[in-house]
Amino acid sequence: MERKADPETADAYLALIRERLPQRTVRHTLSVTALIMQVAERLDLNRASALAAGMLHDLHKADRKQDLLDAAEAFGIPILPVHRDRPKLLHGPVAAEDARRLFNIDDDAYEAIYWHTTGKRGLGMVGRALYFADYSEALRDHPEAPRARALLDEQGFDAALLYVADCKFAYVRQRPPVDPNTAEFHAWLHEMETHS
Ligand SMILES: [Fe+2]
Ligand SMILES: [Fe+2]
Repeated sequence: MERKADPETADAYLALIRERLPQRTVRHTLSVTALIMQVAERLDLNRASALAAGMLHDLHKADRKQDLLDAAEAFGIPILPVHRDRPKLLHGPVAAEDARRLFNIDDDAYEAIYWHTTGKRGLGMVGRALYFADYSEALRDHPEAPRARALLDEQGFDAALLYVADCKFAYVRQRPPVDPNTAEFHAWLHEMETHS
């Protein structure tokens, strides 16, 4: 049965994340969910996809590195060279697979969770909304978060997303290796901007 954006579904997600995650990650998850639901409203995205994406994206955030590598292998997730250096990058892909098995989440939520850390060229709207909300939620303490939320209000979602991708890319490129999908997502957003 496909999940809806209803209280029973939200309760099921909440029970699981409370069981699996430390308090700070639960708090972050709820804050991401609040923001992605706002974006979903603004952009008229599917609410069930947005709810699953927000609530379940960090389901494997607390996993140990070796557990992530083992789970990725068990799920048949492609393991890139960058994942050997940075196994934590696999927490999105592993969460997407796990969430699909547990809750039969839809393809948009799956894609959003899978790619939430790096983005990718061609990422769909729910994925873009999660990428934005993950970085910009109200409990983040970096100054770029309120700036990104202000941009959302002042200039709209595309400008706010581009700002977030610029900030994240500037940060990760100082700490190689960079996941090739991060670079591709960043380049793709700029190409779209030039052509619009
Ligand atoms: Fe994450
Ligand atoms: Fe997150």
